[in-house]
Amino acid sequence: MIMGEFGFRGISEVIATTVSESGEPNAAPIGIISDGNLSARVYTNTQTYANIKATNKMVANIVDDPLLFVLSALTKLPLDEICMGGEYPVLKAANAWVVFECSIEDNPRCATVILRPLRKKILKRSIQPVNRGFNAVIEATIYATRYLAMKDPKYLRWIKHCEKIVIKCGGEREKESMRKLKEFFGADRKNCG
Ligand SMILES: Cc1cc2nc3c(=O)[nH]c(=O)nc-3n(C[C@H](O)[C@H](O)[C@H](O)COP(=O)(O)O)c2cc1C
Repeated sequence: MIMGEFGFRGISEVIATTVSESGEPNAAPIGIISDGNLSARVYTNTQTYANIKATNKMVANIVDDPLLFVLSALTKLPLDEICMGGEYPVLKAANAWVVFECSIEDNPRCATVILRPLRKKILKRSIQPVNRGFNAVIEATIYATRYLAMKDPKYLRWIKHCEKIVIKCGGEREKESMRKLKEFFGADRKNCG
């Protein structure tokens, strides 16, 4: 069963790779919801939604590099991070990936995408001790995307809180990710208080 094999439970954060109708790849973090079945809630103003709508396919890349979450959420991920050799685009850094057939239940702002696994691959079983700095980068990146969408200043305060955890608990990759987040997002000291 794919849920146990890939560790999907509750909401699992992956990086979704998709292609547009014209074949251009895209990458963005998405939460995979496990509630007996697998699904995702995807905002209809995203490229990911447009690509799923066009192709009915999405690849969930399981990655443990915090920088990839920041870059794919807030910028266009450089093409050399994506392997286009196979039938579907996958991230070169993926520990594992699952190709999903998607069926969309449309809603104006946020669609529910029902996911049916088609193909899967485990490439690397990496040992990752729980690291609060890593988790804080993921939280900060979600707050950054919400701030950009809603402009609620509470997200800036929450990013600042995450940054303190990254400074205390993160490794060099987490610290670099937080620097990038602030660089792209513009969450400098003035904004974050
Ligand atoms: C960890 C994480 C999880 C996210 N989960 C979702 C999600 O489930 N659905 C969604 O629409 N956006 C989600 N986002 C926000 C999108 O990744 C973000 O809006 C991104 O810019 C969309 O890029 P795109 O337009 O290239 O698809 C998430 C962001 C992060 C950092």
